[in-house]
Amino acid sequence: MNTIKQTALIIFIALFLTAGHAFTSHAAGNCAYILNTKCTTCHNLGRICRKLGKKKKSKWLTTVKRMVRHGAPLSKAEVKELATCLTEQNASVKDACK
Ligand code: HEC
Repeated sequence: MNTIKQTALIIFIALFLTAGHAFTSHAAGNCAYILNTKCTTCHNLGRICRKLGKKKKSKWLTTVKRMVRHGAPLSKAEVKELATCLTEQNASVKDACK
């Protein structure tokens, strides 16, 4: 009985960790996806990467919204998500800017 409980607990923890990991990498991966597919049609990523660390979140929101007006095909959710990634310079952004 004890072993079954322990096994169940281990499986539960493993599932929890896997789910958590999948969620984080999806969120991060989506910003890289947006950058690489929707931000490179008019200029290269250098234009974006050069500005990392130089804009507050409100400035990034303004910039990304301006890009949407220029024609970048982002949903409202993607605009917010990308502005957050760019402000926090998370792993997906650093990867895209390597
Ligand atoms: C439809 C064409 C187009 C697309 C797609 C596009 N851009 Fe731009 N981008 C421009 C133009 C034109 C400029 C120069 C004029 C300006 O700054 O508005 C520019 C300039 C920039 C600059 C430098 C100016 C500043 O304010 O820092 C950044 C950063 C930038 N773009 C980020 C992005 C991001 C992030 C994306 C993807 C969401 C993107 N761009 C997609 C057209 C585009």
